[in-house]
Amino acid sequence: MADTLTITDNRTGKQYEVPVTEGTIRATDLRQIKTAPEDPGLATYDPAFMNTSACRSRITYIDGDKGILEYRGYPIEQLAEHSNYLETAYLILFGELPTDAQLKTWITDITLHTMVHENIKKLMEGFQYDAHPMGVLISTIAAFSTFYPDAKAIFDEQSRKKQIHRLIAKVPSIAAYAYRHSIGRPYVYPDNDLSFTGNFLNMLFKMTELKYKANPVLERALDVLFILHADHEQNCSTSAMRGIGSSHVDPYSAMAGAAAALYGPLHGGANEAVLRMLNEIGSVSKVPDFIKKVKSGEGSKLMGFGHRVYKSYDPRAKVIKKIADLVFAVTGKNPLLEIALELERIALQDDYFVTRKLYPNVDFYSGLIYQAMGFPVEMFPVLFAIPRTAGWVAQWEEMLLDTEQKIARPRQIYTGPVHRDYVPRDKRS
Ligand SMILES: CC(C)(COP(=O)(O)OP(=O)(O)OC[C@H]1O[C@@H](n2cnc3c(N)ncnc32)[C@H](O)[C@@H]1OP(=O)(O)O)[C@@H](O)C(=O)NCCC(=O)NCCS
Repeated sequence: MADTLTITDNRTGKQYEVPVTEGTIRATDLRQIKTAPEDPGLATYDPAFMNTSACRSRITYIDGDKGILEYRGYPIEQLAEHSNYLETAYLILFGELPTDAQLKTWITDITLHTMVHENIKKLMEGFQYDAHPMGVLISTIAAFSTFYPDAKAIFDEQSRKKQIHRLIAKVPSIAAYAYRHSIGRPYVYPDNDLSFTGNFLNMLFKMTELKYKANPVLERALDVLFILHADHEQNCSTSAMRGIGSSHVDPYSAMAGAAAALYGPLHGGANEAVLRMLNEIGSVSKVPDFIKKVKSGEGSKLMGFGHRVYKSYDPRAKVIKKIADLVFAVTGKNPLLEIALELERIALQDDYFVTRKLYPNVDFYSGLIYQAMGFPVEMFPVLFAIPRTAGWVAQWEEMLLDTEQKIARPRQIYTGPVHRDYVPRDKRS
């Protein structure tokens, strides 16, 4: 059997044969299908990229029907059990797990860049006391491009490497500053004796003690959450990173755009939305009523449920549910957990959710953990952005080095009026 697709154009009766490679046809192969020489050729219409591959990637594999997520071929469950965030970030960026020596160098490279310029601190001080930390993070990432003009050299491997180190190292620092700013506490400088996650907790929560030591269970739990969020192939924010980066702008500007995409409630803002929803429901007894409203379309969606790709239980949600027990053993149970469990129980047996294949996604339980650990809801998308930095920069670099990629420029189907003459204002009705 040939790996081709035969297309009959019923408008002309002509037949075309286009190659099928890796389960796809090239959209540009359809351009030859015309009804007349001046016809620009057949195009595809795919709002929201429901069935269009925009790149070839070697980074993250997802099988949404089977609930599989792998970074560079390694199952997420194994990485969550055995790896740590920085090692996983290395894997995502370089394609292989590091040797001891490589990991040591990598940790040093990242640790060397955790400090931010004092002027960045001043810039952040300019925000209102109640500024959403995600808005602060997005703006500060964009501002980095003015501090590191060398970042424009995107085709210089050494420069790219340096910006990648800076981004992975400095995003936790500015995330912590954004939090401290919102509660009016002084910023805490990084402590490079601590682990990546331990230092982040230090910058968030250190008070007058000389040395901050995070609870090891919470430190590990946050690190696992970072592993789970490190990449997720071509999601909205990663597509933004690739799309903006395709104009050859510096990575800070591109990543500010990616972080902005993450901020939306349908993406990284969903865990914040889940918490608000659980608070609004208020008690287990009100769950059936809430579900009724969701189904009738009267209320909001069931936040933390459903996914464009996963049509079964999100594998990250499974890991998170396990971590939740460990965290709650330290912090005490989050009172909203009972409501979440009841929502899940009812939704998983309800025809509406079953037929639409709506299962809990990564955001359904992560917010409960973050809240139990003492994070305000506004920090939730920030906690997503920190680890996703590794995925964004890896996908950005892959895009830049892919000789098939050009500036992203989708087509449109124009549905407005065509050619009409200007009407002077006094002649308009
Ligand atoms: C994630 C999400 C944006 C994916 O959207 P999508 O792939 O475009 O799926 P659709 O919106 O087309 O959903 C398909 C159907 O399921 C319904 N649906 C999807 N998610 C739903 C939810 N969370 N609650 C209730 N109904 C939902 C839609 O209304 C639609 O129903 P219909 O066929 O009767 O019109 C969507 O599921 C959602 O908004 N979930 C809540 C937000 C969330 O948790 N986001 C985090 C993602 S990690």
